[in-house]
Amino acid sequence: MKGLFLTLEGIDGAGKSSHIDALEALFKAQGRQVTRTREPGGTPLAEALRAQILEQPMDALTESLLVFAARRDHVVRVIEPALARGDIVLCDRFTDATFAYQGAGRGFDPSVLSTLEQWVQAQPDSGVHALLQPDITVWFDLPPETAAERLAGARLPDKFESQPVEFFRRVAAGYAQRAASAPRFVRIDANQSREQVWQQIEAALAERGFVASDSGGAP
Ligand code: TMP
Repeated sequence: MKGLFLTLEGIDGAGKSSHIDALEALFKAQGRQVTRTREPGGTPLAEALRAQILEQPMDALTESLLVFAARRDHVVRVIEPALARGDIVLCDRFTDATFAYQGAGRGFDPSVLSTLEQWVQAQPDSGVHALLQPDITVWFDLPPETAAERLAGARLPDKFESQPVEFFRRVAAGYAQRAASAPRFVRIDANQSREQVWQQIEAALAERGFVASDSGGAP
């Protein structure tokens, strides 16, 4: 069976992580093997880099290099082998987050990010210009003000979560721009109840033929 690379994206507080359990259950109910992972992270090295990225102040180029270094290790050791086995890879964030956070949020040069993307996601066996990209990206779209309200009073915020709402307005605009340019994006209106959000996700997966439409699987 062919592997499937599914990523979840959105600004902090958009609620994406709370649907990963249900996604895993949905695919497992269809007899699929699931690899669940996240970025930055997913390998011992990438998790160590994550801790630094989320806590240490650093300039945007350093941050981008570390994010892509973590991604390279993750792609080579986890994502590509899982896809080769035919797994469903459920990945909480991937390169779209770099364009949204480091690019749009921090104002870093997107052409440098594109170059790093070419290096890190190259697939020489699939043709000179082939890049590893998600098959589907579930984008949780939520107004930054609402996300900030949801995050307020939650656990101790990390470096990104403690950014002002203006930062997240830029990140949200970065996601919107990216979503407009790639058909693999599915926009989910995350400003709804958890149940309604889940129904949108299930419907989008069924519409694209990734799961059977009568698959059930409530969160
Ligand atoms: P998470 O809290 O959803 O696991 O994401 C970790 C944080 O890292 C989140 O604030 C977004 C940020 N991030 C980037 O800035 N660039 C990236 O490339 C990735 C994957 C995450």
